[in-house]
Amino acid sequence: MPNRPYIVGNWKMNGTRAQLTEARAIDRGATRHAGVRVAIAPPFTLIAAMAAEVQALTVGGQDCHGEVSGAFTGDVSAVMLKDAGAGFVIVGHSERRAMHGESDAMVRAKAEAALDAGLEVIVCVGESEAERDAGQAEAVVGAQLDASLPRGEGLVPRLTVAYEPVWAIGTGRVAAPADVAAMHAVLRAKLVAIYGEDGAAVKILYGGSVNAGNAAELLAVADVGGALVGGASLTADSFLSIVAAAG
Ligand code: G3P
Repeated sequence: MPNRPYIVGNWKMNGTRAQLTEARAIDRGATRHAGVRVAIAPPFTLIAAMAAEVQALTVGGQDCHGEVSGAFTGDVSAVMLKDAGAGFVIVGHSERRAMHGESDAMVRAKAEAALDAGLEVIVCVGESEAERDAGQAEAVVGAQLDASLPRGEGLVPRLTVAYEPVWAIGTGRVAAPADVAAMHAVLRAKLVAIYGEDGAAVKILYGGSVNAGNAAELLAVADVGGALVGGASLTADSFLSIVAAAG
């Protein structure tokens, strides 16, 4: 079922082995929603343990380095993520861009490294509040996507894009459905310009304060292929409510 809605939990820097209980519960719940693809990106330290315990969930990383190996203290490569049991990695999250100075070129290198390692990749883009207030949101995000996307043959089936307005992340403020639709149309046009007709098949997720109460409305917006969920993915109850809203 290639066209299933894709609901991805980004646990960020949350979770120790005790939270594997939640992952097991999410996994059990995901088996009851076979029409939805469900994934979790836990901290690096939980990837191997979670991947070993779940059946229906895909487990992924929240970041990777652009190189395969080397003198990069504290970093983790895509090859290492794959070896630990990850099936995908998120790159270009706005928290990485803002707090770790990641440029579009770095994000693109990470995405290419991930694909080379055999992972799927979720490339994140999103505008700041000042950029939206200045009427620049679509231009900024379109340019960000263009410069962050990996290039090459045959990668489209393993590529997902996530639109996460920075001002909506962890704030409880959600983008208006009309603005989400407009932005996803811009991103779709960019994907088709870059990859040709294959670009029409890339899933575009919305992220930013998605929760059980607003998920159905957001997932019904034109060309929203799923959600990238932060805070509401940390417990099985709230995350599975979002999964249920998707299908
Ligand atoms: O990557 C998901 C994210 O940044 C959104 O976080 O907590 O607003 O759902 P949250």
